[in-house]
Amino acid sequence: MTRSTTTGGATARVRARGTCRICGARGLQSIVDLGRTPLANAFVPATLLKRAEPRFPLRLARCPDCGLVQLRDVVDRSLLFRKYLYFSSSSGTMPAHFAGLVEAALRRHGGKTPGLAVEIGSNDGTLLRNLLGTTLRPLGIEPARNIAQQANERGIPTWNEFFSKPVAERILREHGPARLVFSNNVLAHIDDVHEVASAAARLLEEDGAWIIEVPHLAEMMRRVEFDTIYHEHLSYFSLPPLERLFLRHGLLLVDVQQVPVHGGSLRLTVQRQRPGRKPRASVARVRAYERRLGLSNPATYRRFRTRVHAIRRDLPRLLRGLRHQGHRIVGYGAPAKGNTLLNYCRIDGTILDYILDTTPAKQGLFTPGTHVPIREPGVFHRDPPTHALLLAWNFEREILAKERGFLRAGGRFIRPVPRPAYVPPKR
Ligand code: TMP
Repeated sequence: MTRSTTTGGATARVRARGTCRICGARGLQSIVDLGRTPLANAFVPATLLKRAEPRFPLRLARCPDCGLVQLRDVVDRSLLFRKYLYFSSSSGTMPAHFAGLVEAALRRHGGKTPGLAVEIGSNDGTLLRNLLGTTLRPLGIEPARNIAQQANERGIPTWNEFFSKPVAERILREHGPARLVFSNNVLAHIDDVHEVASAAARLLEEDGAWIIEVPHLAEMMRRVEFDTIYHEHLSYFSLPPLERLFLRHGLLLVDVQQVPVHGGSLRLTVQRQRPGRKPRASVARVRAYERRLGLSNPATYRRFRTRVHAIRRDLPRLLRGLRHQGHRIVGYGAPAKGNTLLNYCRIDGTILDYILDTTPAKQGLFTPGTHVPIREPGVFHRDPPTHALLLAWNFEREILAKERGFLRAGGRFIRPVPRPAYVPPKR
């Protein structure tokens, strides 16, 4: 079903799915409804603050058959990804993580002869840059015009496209098959995962590897990372639905590792099915971990919903209490997920003075829905508040290390999930 939502003069398209995107089953089961929210990356310029923002339903559900956790509502992808404000290079953590990922992939699958490495959703080339000067030539595929352009300017050949079967065919014609295909934090963003899986399978060399990173549903449940739910994130993966997807396209999950980025992710290595090719022990290990956490049990999802409701009750209460005592609170980092948190918990400019963020493209804009101004970090250092809400909690370690001065002077960080708490814990 496709319908148009018209809000405040803006017309945008959203489609409610009736079936699971992996197995096609009907009767998706509701987990939590986060209401109608603006798009998490639709930061607002000052001149448009008076204009009503388009809002879209944000409902999380689970497939009763394969277990894929997914959004019911799919927003038109060109609205989400043609212009993008997220740059992989905006933290110190991600570039270092990608360097490690590429090094490990080259060691295991790089081979000795020249070849090709393709990244799906290559952003500003932060990952592919690590391939310059190696045996593998990098090629990025990136739908955001502004970001693809930046990558090309930095010397990473990048096509401004959504990855698809025709794009895979064109790569095969112009460059031949790929020894490595990377997709980091993109599979969850894609509605037609079958198109992408079949295109990736087609693109791989016989012994090539597709290396995928996705946030792990297990960690989202365990650590109540409900703010990672937003319209860009269509799927929240665990192994059973992924393995089903791969098998359908002649692919095999051969290895999986749990990695700490983005609140806990899976690094999956997928290869063509071939006689004698078997999964490593890691696959059974992660499957067992998921079973222990109860991912196949509906009660796990009910408990998650209860804990999400508790954050919505407790976090604004804590912050308002601090304001009443005369404290000044700001937001630290303006990630997309911060906007799920702020909108759902109704935290706005009456609670946060501003949000600081290192991304120049975000500075001077306002958060969607809640209209908190985003400022450059210098403001925070020149005139520190008493408290900072750690919206970019996935970079907690990096940020706490960087802001030792703030902490030494008595400043406090508050982490919103899994329950509102001071970090480091209150002395
Ligand atoms: P992400 O959680 O979606 O990766 O986005 C993190 C955001 O936080 C990004 O906009 C950059 C910002 N940020 C800071 O402002 N200061 C920091 O020290 C770090 C690590 C991130």
